[in-house]
Amino acid sequence: MLFAIYLLFFILKYFATAGKQEKLLYTTANNIQEIDLDTLVVKELAYQSTESRSLAYDVQERYVYSLRLTENTIVRFPYPNDQAVNFETVVSTNRPYYVAFDSGNSHLYWTELNTLGRVVRCKSDGSDVTTIVNETLPIALALDIYNRWIYYSTETSNALLRVTFDGTERQVVINLSSRLIDIQVDFVDQRVYWMEYDTGDLKSVLNNGSMSKQ
Ligand SMILES: *[C@@H]1O[C@H](CO)[C@@H](O)[C@H](O)[C@H]1NC(C)=O
Ligand SMILES: *[C@@H]1O[C@H](CO)[C@@H](O)[C@H](O)[C@H]1NC(C)=O
Ligand SMILES: *[C@@H]1O[C@H](CO)[C@@H](O)[C@H](O)[C@H]1NC(C)=O
Repeated sequence: MLFAIYLLFFILKYFATAGKQEKLLYTTANNIQEIDLDTLVVKELAYQSTESRSLAYDVQERYVYSLRLTENTIVRFPYPNDQAVNFETVVSTNRPYYVAFDSGNSHLYWTELNTLGRVVRCKSDGSDVTTIVNETLPIALALDIYNRWIYYSTETSNALLRVTFDGTERQVVINLSSRLIDIQVDFVDQRVYWMEYDTGDLKSVLNNGSMSKQ
């Protein structure tokens, strides 16, 4: 199934730089799993009874954030962690769809998948909920913490969009022929990657919108 796997690159990077075992965390619709990249052993970390589309990691406080679309909550658990996963509710919100974390500022960002939807942020304790931008059916999002852009997509626009962290400037980076999901920012190459929903194609563009290439 095309959308079975949502990769979480931050954790991979974190373990790589810490010189420990490399592990990759991801979520299928209902299971958060961990792969040990040396042994390829897969470990089941947690089962979630409602669908979760994305994970985010806070490298500072070391929490994994996940969401519960139909329970209208965002949850988190400490990771790495030897004990059984215990979810803690961070914030109640209306149909959360994708999460991202800005560890430098300890801010959680997410999209709310509603016709009158929005891109929202709050502090890691769930306080100070702030609307960044009102948007129709926003889906994926990713943070460019260096250039201070939030990249996101919507169900209906077939475009890669971005908005400044303070919400004052919103731009179409590139118009496409498909919805896009799973946006990732490559800080080194200054490119933004995404997967196209209808074809599964992985594509990218320079972060100024030029030189689209497959
Ligand atoms: C979003 O919409 C709400 C309700 O219409 C409005 O009060 C708020 O000012 C809007 N926020 C932004 C950032 O546009
Ligand atoms: C994308 O499409 C919209 C609507 O057709 C148009 O206004 C806008 O200029 C386009 N933007 C880019 C970057 O191609
Ligand atoms: C985008 O950045 C590239 C590489 O820095 C540059 O060559 C290109 O002219 C820029 N395009 C725009 C539209 O700014």
